Amino acid sequence: MAILKIAVLGNPVLRIPAEPVKNTQAPDIQRLIDDMIETMREYRGVGLAAPQVHRGLQIVTIEADRDGREGKLDAPTVLINPRITPVSDQMEEDWEGCLSIPNLRGKVPRNKEIEVQAQDRRGRTLHLSVRDFLARVIQHECDHLNATVFLDRMKSFETLTFLEEYARYWAPREEDGE
Ligand code: NI
Repeated sequence: MAILKIAVLGNPVLRIPAEPVKNTQAPDIQRLIDDMIETMREYRGVGLAAPQVHRGLQIVTIEADRDGREGKLDAPTVLINPRITPVSDQMEEDWEGCLSIPNLRGKVPRNKEIEVQAQDRRGRTLHLSVRDFLARVIQHECDHLNATVFLDRMKSFETLTFLEEYARYWAPREEDGE
């Protein structure tokens, strides 16, 4: 396994739509998945998409063990060739950051509840029903496969915040009950 270099904003690889994976069992694909998981953990990301590590393939890895899970998900979760369907029009705005946009956070509207169809790393078809934080992470990562970053989804840049200022002014505090 290897820790891969992360492409940051401005690298053209982040703005090219990713190609579907034809053979999930190919050794090269399995190695890439292992490396993505190791890279995601090294940089403490809750998710990573293959274009972020310079590979234009429809693969995302997610490790977001928080509220909002429905059904049991593998940890880490690997989604290959994922397709997202919103369950309703209900949207929710919350903070996001991105390993490819270091040191910034901003509030992004996302569908609150989605269904996801994808293949797992063994090539089996997955149908997931997810909401809240996990739905947000999956939408963020799948956007990367479509050459989209969270900045593109913001309604305005008024909440765009450096991490230090986020911690100082915006992070949930104990007295807020979080
Ligand atoms: Ni990202």
